Amino acid sequence: MADWHPGSWRQRPIRQQPEYTDTEALAGALAEVTRLPPLVHPGEVDSLRAQLARAARGEAFLLQGGDCAERFADCTRGPIENKLKILLQMSLVLTWGARIPTVRVGRMAGQYAKPRSSSWETVDGRQVPSYRGDHVNSFGLEAREPDPDRLVQAYFRSAATLNYVRALLGGGFADLHRPETWDLGFVRSARRRADYERMVAAITEALEFVEATGVQTASVTGRVDIFSSHEGLLLPYEQALTERVGDRWYNLGSHFQWIGDRTRQVDHAHVEYFGGIANPLGIKVGPTMTAPELVELLELLNPDDEPGKITLITRFGADRIDNELPPLIEAVKDSGRTVVWSSDPMHGNTEKTSSGIKTRDFDRILDELDQAFTLHAACGTRLSGVHFELTGDNVTECTGGPQELGEHDLDRAYETFCDPRLNYAQALEMAFLIARALQDFRNVEGE
Ligand code: PEP
Ligand code: CO
Repeated sequence: MADWHPGSWRQRPIRQQPEYTDTEALAGALAEVTRLPPLVHPGEVDSLRAQLARAARGEAFLLQGGDCAERFADCTRGPIENKLKILLQMSLVLTWGARIPTVRVGRMAGQYAKPRSSSWETVDGRQVPSYRGDHVNSFGLEAREPDPDRLVQAYFRSAATLNYVRALLGGGFADLHRPETWDLGFVRSARRRADYERMVAAITEALEFVEATGVQTASVTGRVDIFSSHEGLLLPYEQALTERVGDRWYNLGSHFQWIGDRTRQVDHAHVEYFGGIANPLGIKVGPTMTAPELVELLELLNPDDEPGKITLITRFGADRIDNELPPLIEAVKDSGRTVVWSSDPMHGNTEKTSSGIKTRDFDRILDELDQAFTLHAACGTRLSGVHFELTGDNVTECTGGPQELGEHDLDRAYETFCDPRLNYAQALEMAFLIARALQDFRNVEGE
């Protein structure tokens, strides 16, 4: 790390970067982002790292979720309120249903750039640059050329999103996340609904007790923490938000960044850049990750084995996780290194319907998650987090779930520009199921 600096990644090969033709405009946009104030405070980043260190010890549970790709057009009141509402409601279900403190991290306020399997795609018989997220170009075919000005626009939308989230939390968000206001009408199964209503009653009681006794907890009254995160993909932008504070370098564009499954090569630029950054970091771990590679990544990205620094976000698919996960768990155990194990049950379970629509099925998502819990328990480790693509809105992008959505329902409200997300009902149901799973494991451990 001796020769690390915020731009040292430029000496390495790099993947998944847009090619800007107007390099002068690019330099101007990056200079502007560099000049603008930080979006988060290093103290908040340290606080998240400390919370994740607790998750690594099994004393807290990480809930990370939000859009696959945020869209500039959704930087408006409704979608932000709804996303905050579903994340807070899910976290209440986990905190009080499973009796474990929840660390809340939104895939929001900066999740604008996407890796793509190909730089070009054919739409209506025309070859156009692939859509790489609003950070880079437009989904509309008329503006697929990468536009440097979008780097500045992404900064301001991240700022506006964070500002409104902070305002909602600061102004008292109680009416939006109080259990008595939750509508469980979406749950079709009477037995399940009765089960959830009992959980909601228990949560309400717990909250009343906390309020009556004046005990302040981070999840109920007083300060509610929610942290921002995005894939650290566009390194010129990430570098522009990098600052030295004391003797460490922070990325002050969001609290948490992750390295995607396509940009985690040990000798490439993304690993070089994040190796020098103090923020907690996620690493997406897919089926092509080998055990030696994973251990090498941990050594490079967290040489001092700082607790809370690394979250491994596994994403294999329901069919593969039982083969792929245990050897990686064993390798990390043997290395003696500290990580938070999280499960992303979305990205390995994407399928196409017969009419070509990208979707994911609720039961397969749940299946991967269940297996993650069980496989960790069998290895003597613990699943301490989940990572979802979700929205607080009533979209129809994933099949199944409490509303029993079928393929024919997908057309109705399919809004994502990228991957299919859980809708409000599917996400809340998922939280209830995770709370039950955590309770079950607790009971087994307690025996
Ligand atoms: C994502 O999280 O949206 C993503 C692209 O994931 P992965 O890198 O795991 O494929
Ligand atoms: Co995605």
